[in-house]
Amino acid sequence: MTLSELITALPIYPTKSPHVYRLMRILIHSGFFAPKNTNENDQEEAYVLTESSRLLIKDNPLSVTPFLLAVVDPVLTTPWNYLTTWFQNEDLTPFDTAHGKTFWDYGGDEPKFANIFNDAMASDARLVMSIVVDKCKGVFEGLKSFVDVGGGTGTVTKAIADTFPDIECTVFDLPHVVADFQGSKNLKYVGGDMFEAVPPADAVFMKWILHDWNEEDSVKLLKRCKEAITTNDKKGKVIIIELMMENQKEDKKSTETQLFFDMMLMVLVKGRERNEKEWAKLFMDAGFSNYKITPILGLRVLIEVYP
Ligand SMILES: C[S@@+](CC[C@H](N)C(=O)[O-])C[C@H]1O[C@@H](n2cnc3c(N)ncnc32)[C@H](O)[C@@H]1O
Repeated sequence: MTLSELITALPIYPTKSPHVYRLMRILIHSGFFAPKNTNENDQEEAYVLTESSRLLIKDNPLSVTPFLLAVVDPVLTTPWNYLTTWFQNEDLTPFDTAHGKTFWDYGGDEPKFANIFNDAMASDARLVMSIVVDKCKGVFEGLKSFVDVGGGTGTVTKAIADTFPDIECTVFDLPHVVADFQGSKNLKYVGGDMFEAVPPADAVFMKWILHDWNEEDSVKLLKRCKEAITTNDKKGKVIIIELMMENQKEDKKSTETQLFFDMMLMVLVKGRERNEKEWAKLFMDAGFSNYKITPILGLRVLIEVYP
């Protein structure tokens, strides 16, 4: 699309048109568009999508726009302004300093924000699961039951329930998150507190859960998971999908992404990103004996943890 076509297509006030070029210039610099001359005689610059902007277009079923909209929502950006105050007070997180309550309590009290956050998680889960059910089928084969702890609105579990109709699947999350959802033939929703008990299953799945919590909470949660997979003398496994720090030969952007994710966890919740050594320590402290890492997507890995 040329600049003039773009200006015509956008619903902008006429006096603002000269600024569209400036916006496009920085979006090219940051990799969301690429410049393209329409033909040799044509002096007007045109723009094409890149891999990054394709992930943000409306009609891409794997669009992560809801995730982007959540991380730039003022509820999530305001706490960054409280870092200085937080470093000087006793509050658990800058989020608590800004909003007077924890991230999870805020979601319970503010349904509008909870929807934005749950949609964000669902969009990431769709993207990640599109790869997991294709490339990591073996991880789930032979399971009779599966519980997704902190499974949100059920995107991960639906992908597993559809791909493996013989697995009994459970979405487990806080009561207010699952309250309005109905199960289907091999999928059910259960509300509860994962730190108290996790529903028993052959496999306990956790995506983007442990990185929300500090070491003490994570070990406690992993112990609940171990109880769930060893009920009735069974020996199941825990399946974790998380970002792993220092996991591959790193380029500058990947390192920056990891470091910013870690900062986001410091600002919003009590958690952190971990490298392999730190993950292994958590597993051993919770009484597990072994684990296996499979890289899946970008910086994300799948970890199978065995009792
Ligand atoms: C970062 S989100 C991850 C959602 C989902 N696993 C995904 O990756 O798309 C963390 C989830 O943990 C849930 N959660 C937080 N505290 C919980 C608790 N005490 N018991 C059960 N679920 C909890 C939240 O409601 C939220 O859905």
